Amino acid sequence: MIITIDGPAGSGKSTAARKLAARMGIPYLDTGAMYRAVTLAAIEANADLRDDAALANIARQGDYHLDLGPTHIRVTLGDRDVTEEIRSMRVSERTRFIAASPGVRRELIERQRRIGRQLGAMVTEGRDQGTAAFPDADIKFFLDASIERRAERRYHELLADGEDVTLDQVLQNLRERDTTDSQRAVAPLAVPPDATRIDTTHMTIPEVVELLYDTIRSRGLNMVPASHRDTHVII
Ligand code: DC
Repeated sequence: MIITIDGPAGSGKSTAARKLAARMGIPYLDTGAMYRAVTLAAIEANADLRDDAALANIARQGDYHLDLGPTHIRVTLGDRDVTEEIRSMRVSERTRFIAASPGVRRELIERQRRIGRQLGAMVTEGRDQGTAAFPDADIKFFLDASIERRAERRYHELLADGEDVTLDQVLQNLRERDTTDSQRAVAPLAVPPDATRIDTTHMTIPEVVELLYDTIRSRGLNMVPASHRDTHVII
């Protein structure tokens, strides 16, 4: 069973996806972490961030790995744990170049489908999971919230990570990312036509998770065979 959750930054989809997956006992795939890992690898390789072929090559051959489980995701670059570093502003400010690269998107979508086949059941979240990556997903969600609310959430996350940013900077970064995410030529952020839309502006995370869970149940979907429980995968 493939469950997709798409939406803009700060819509609450990452936390909701992780908690939903944990509740169901299946892995979750944070596809933003894949784009972030490739971004960090490209920065460290001093790659030209507008050179599609160079970026695609890093996405294909870069020494980055994701360890996915129902309650965690760990990202490594070479032998370094970069799980936190990929969330820094240094990386966030450059992800849009990597997300706009057709070669990178082709490679990462291919990897996402491979992971889906390997796991059989997962919650996958990003910008294009219900549209480009898994158009035949069993159930699709699209989460959204006002930009002010999304900026507030991101700001608090960054503060907790010890970043020195202002709410205004985060708001500005989100505005830029919203524009590039929805206007880029390849796989722009779009609501899948068959997705359930949820506005999380005034909702808490537990409320969002409850609603996702209830929606899955009310569709009568097979709630994950036992053989798929507690699997995790390293890519
Ligand atoms: O969700 P996030 O902020 O961690 O995403 C990081 C970047 O990757 C952001 O610029 C959007 C992009 N992204 C994408 O283009 N497609 C995805 N499926 C996931 C993320």
